[in-house]
Amino acid sequence: MKLLIINGPNLNLLGVREKSVYGTMSYIDLCEYILAEAKKLNVEIEIVQSNSEGEIINFLHNAIGKFQGVIINPGAYTHYSYAIHDAIKAISIKTVEVHLSNIHAREEFRSKSVTAPACVGQISGFGHYGYIMAIMAIMAQLNNSE
Ligand code: DQA
Repeated sequence: MKLLIINGPNLNLLGVREKSVYGTMSYIDLCEYILAEAKKLNVEIEIVQSNSEGEIINFLHNAIGKFQGVIINPGAYTHYSYAIHDAIKAISIKTVEVHLSNIHAREEFRSKSVTAPACVGQISGFGHYGYIMAIMAIMAQLNNSE
């Protein structure tokens, strides 16, 4: 089983940006943590990050035929990118949305996700562990649909 993790804008600045919200773990440490946990779960993972909407859409398109599942943290695009919503729908690959922070407990504009309706579900507020929860959720979904 091969899963693609896509991280959106500003996530490369984890450990630097708003530490009280996103924690002190750096982006590189987050990636290493995810890869180590995925190994224990016997899942192959590729992690990509972009600050551009078009590049995120290209990552989604290029996942066709290569990945059985996608985990995406679209960053602030979550709240307004209909193009990412459409790309998730277009590729027909089970996708889970992840947020480090609880987007429902912050500013009002963050409580609306336009991308989550295109996904199987959303995990929000569990910090870096949310990515592991998403991996387990996709594995369960894929095993059930076999
Ligand atoms: C985020 C939440 C978004 O509202 C914000 O714009 C981010 C990070 C999260 O992981 O909590 O960049 O997606």
